[in-house]
Amino acid sequence: MTDSLPPFVAPEQTPAWAELLALADLWLARRITDAFSADAARVDALSLPAGALWLDASKQAWDAGVLAQLLALARAVRLPEGIEALFAGAEVNFTERRPALHMACRGGADVPPADRERFAATESRLQAFVTAFHRGELRGATGERLDHAVNLGIGGSDLGPRLACEALSHQEAPQRNVRFVANLDPSDFSATIRGLEAARTLFVVSSKSFGTAETLANLERARAWLSRELGTHETAAHFLAVTSNPDKAQALGFAPDRILWLPPWVGGRYSLWSAVGLPVALAFGWERFLELRAGARRMDQHFRTEPLERNLPVWLGLLGLWNANLLDVPSWAVLPYDQGLSWFPAWLQQLEMESNGKRCRRDGSLVPYPTAAVVWGMSGTLGQHAFHQLFYQGTRRLTLDFIVPLPRPLDAGRRALAQHALAQAGALLAGRTRDEVRAALRTQGLAPEEIEALAPHHEIPGNRPSSVLLTEGWDASVLGELLAAYEHATFVRGWIWGIDPFDQYGVELGKELARTLAAGGTLAGFDPSTRALAARLDAHR
Ligand code: F6P
Repeated sequence: MTDSLPPFVAPEQTPAWAELLALADLWLARRITDAFSADAARVDALSLPAGALWLDASKQAWDAGVLAQLLALARAVRLPEGIEALFAGAEVNFTERRPALHMACRGGADVPPADRERFAATESRLQAFVTAFHRGELRGATGERLDHAVNLGIGGSDLGPRLACEALSHQEAPQRNVRFVANLDPSDFSATIRGLEAARTLFVVSSKSFGTAETLANLERARAWLSRELGTHETAAHFLAVTSNPDKAQALGFAPDRILWLPPWVGGRYSLWSAVGLPVALAFGWERFLELRAGARRMDQHFRTEPLERNLPVWLGLLGLWNANLLDVPSWAVLPYDQGLSWFPAWLQQLEMESNGKRCRRDGSLVPYPTAAVVWGMSGTLGQHAFHQLFYQGTRRLTLDFIVPLPRPLDAGRRALAQHALAQAGALLAGRTRDEVRAALRTQGLAPEEIEALAPHHEIPGNRPSSVLLTEGWDASVLGELLAAYEHATFVRGWIWGIDPFDQYGVELGKELARTLAAGGTLAGFDPSTRALAARLDAHR
């Protein structure tokens, strides 16, 4: 589709793919604990440091032989050239004929020459807004200082900054109160602004397209609220827009000096590093935002320059592909053992599922293998008391990522939290055999027939694959490294699958139907169920 990329190579036609299929057969019949017994060096061979991150992937159903074939696959499909193409600004978003240069926002790649001036000007204005906000120089309609902010945005215009603000707020108290409204549900807006003083509230309206229904509805709500509270319609001083579509923002009443430019080559779900990250800087200061970017930049350098065999995002990407395609594992649970990372699963859902939840390849062929897994999760230890039971004794195949930030110094509470993570990963691998169960029940003094009746219920099969990602220290820059590592892993999978991780045509269909319904348009093209439900909704008063 675009000649600026190395040619597409179908992964299933490479010799490495055939080797991997054979290895997968072996691993589907093998216990991971047996692999530990057979290889004393397994933990070292399958662990990898990168900056402040430490990945232990030895509890996954693979070994150095599988990794070698995955690396051979990566080379066969020209992943190194793909990585270079990404950083060089080639049109890796080949359906929209655009580069994907979110790394440029954090200094990890060059800004395209034609956009340098505009990008630098935006950076200066961004910093100036942040500084003015912190100095109390931004004034609202009544002349009062604007000293707290509400981000209006959804998807990539919400999840990244929301995740970062939440994560950092568990490390330090924010300097300013910053909140987030995303949902079309009016109660999201009203509940979020509860207790805020309109005269002192700044709204950041973040939308790459400036056409997203949820965000525009919340913009209207914000305007109505300010007008009502302040007794004036002159509320422009309370708003900033972040967008790739300044014309649309202007048409909706934003003066040019209230608009911050989001370059079109930054995808929505990769936009935290751009002006979309403004809420992070408003809450924690410009320096903290720069630290976040610096951590991500370190991961960019690692991804771009480390050989594939020592490259953490490459490992993460290949491991995901091995699980999804060759072991046929459809579900990927991510469990951050850090309450500040409670938005990480949602952020990763958008990152992976919106990027790689696709089936059409660059050459127009449909993929003959599964693509993105279903991503889900919750912060540990909360998940332990919600769904870990299914991990232990359920029947579904899944893989788990335990993310375990280790702040320095590590206090007793955080140590206990990390111990929980390690214990879960270890217990899920080991399980409990029928004989172990019998022995345990005997010590409780149960009668033999009772033991036999209960033993199958207590038995835990184990062999549940997981990765553990530790951090050495936990601050804004380590957070940046972590997020960038997952971003790049998503690219690795998308590249090998041959799909475009930077478009999202699928989501558009649902939006179209919603627009038709909202406009009272004809539903003739839709199924009887949808038509009947729409009629029921119409009749509801
Ligand atoms: O859900 C589709 C999507 O386009 C996402 O890719 C994006 O992050 C979100 O909507 C919000 O879009 P925008 O930033 O244009 O409002």
